[in-house]
Amino acid sequence: PYAQYKVLRDEDPVHQHPLGFWFVSRHDDVAALLRAGLSVEVRNLAPGEFRDQVVPEEGRGALDLSMLDRDPPDHTRLRSLVTKVFTRRRVAALRPRIEQLVDAALDRMAEKGDCDLVEELAFPLPFAVISEMLGIPEGDHARIRELSGTLVRSLEIVADDETVNAIAAADAELTAIAADLVEWKRGNPGEDLLTDLVQAEHEGQVLDRDELVAQVVLLYVAGHETTVNLIANGVNALLRNPDQLAALRDRPELEANAVEEFLRYDSPVQQTRRVTTEPFTLRDKEIPAGSFVIACLGSANRDERFYGSDADQLRLDRPEARHQVSFGAGPHHCLGAALARLEGEVAIGRLVRRFPDLGFAGALEWNGRINLHGPATFPVTVHSA
Ligand code: HEM
Repeated sequence: PYAQYKVLRDEDPVHQHPLGFWFVSRHDDVAALLRAGLSVEVRNLAPGEFRDQVVPEEGRGALDLSMLDRDPPDHTRLRSLVTKVFTRRRVAALRPRIEQLVDAALDRMAEKGDCDLVEELAFPLPFAVISEMLGIPEGDHARIRELSGTLVRSLEIVADDETVNAIAAADAELTAIAADLVEWKRGNPGEDLLTDLVQAEHEGQVLDRDELVAQVVLLYVAGHETTVNLIANGVNALLRNPDQLAALRDRPELEANAVEEFLRYDSPVQQTRRVTTEPFTLRDKEIPAGSFVIACLGSANRDERFYGSDADQLRLDRPEARHQVSFGAGPHHCLGAALARLEGEVAIGRLVRRFPDLGFAGALEWNGRINLHGPATFPVTVHSA
């Protein structure tokens, strides 16, 4: 999509689509839009065909009650509750466990030789980490994986009826699974996030049962459907830029900035959206109240006005990389950013050092999603020392 983004940035940076929604594509505009604290609730859209398409007919779905889709004061209440248990210390303490999971995955890859990077490492790592963090027993992981894969398609703007129905069914089933887990957790408390959240519900009445279930679904889905793409897109970018791959192998101190550059170069989340509740002026355009506005993170990250004329190149030591907007900005800035960075750093760093001959073993197949952008399968060869 990057060539099209460039056309929009150059020619119509605050673009109104024929369907009525707005598309913002330059770095500074995206940052300003997200920091302005606009609404995220689609019920604030002006009446019309577009609103009818994006607002569900029957009540709210699994994610709609989560902090991601709520405005203050509900957003503030729900977010502060999760922030309290999702602490930096808790995340940092996960490093040894993440290293262990990565090494085990690399051992399995070494045994296989040629294998699928998504299946062996990029998906199972974040999935295992968030499952363990939440304290969810192994159970039917395959089913949860399938359901959450369907659910995230709701992030796309336009969908056919069949997809809409599949999303609603996945939503209902995932919500039911999460509700059962919450119930189960009452009788099986542990040292985990879900126990803390259940406790919070019990103590303060600060969130109701449906909201608690929605936070669990959000953390679960956001915890793995995104990081998988950070890892896979990052490795894809490296294999296409052998000089950068060599640099990362030789200079491990590059790792932290490299993760920022992977996030910038091929953003795992391409878009997020806001709803105006009053007219919002951006450049020479006035976006009317009740509009749906897409902030294109993937485009903002490639804006040559901000990153310079080599914005389309992967440069692991690029100092501005840390200003990428892949985690959003403002009040909804990603709560899992520290965890995602840690997983990305450990997974990619160890992978490239373990397999000096890491390479493509075939064509990569993209997942076909507009928003959560990454490969569905990624054949690699890892015949190594
Ligand atoms: C919010 C991206 C990993 C939990 C967001 C948003 C973005 C994002 C763009 C903001 C959406 C908006 O402004 O509308 C990413 C990327 C990730 C990642 C690119 C990986 C590379 C994670 C992980 C978790 C997580 C690992 C949790 C375990 C959340 C939560 C929110 C959020 C709870 C909602 C925050 C709020 O509404 O206040 N993420 N995320 N994310 N993310 Fe992430």
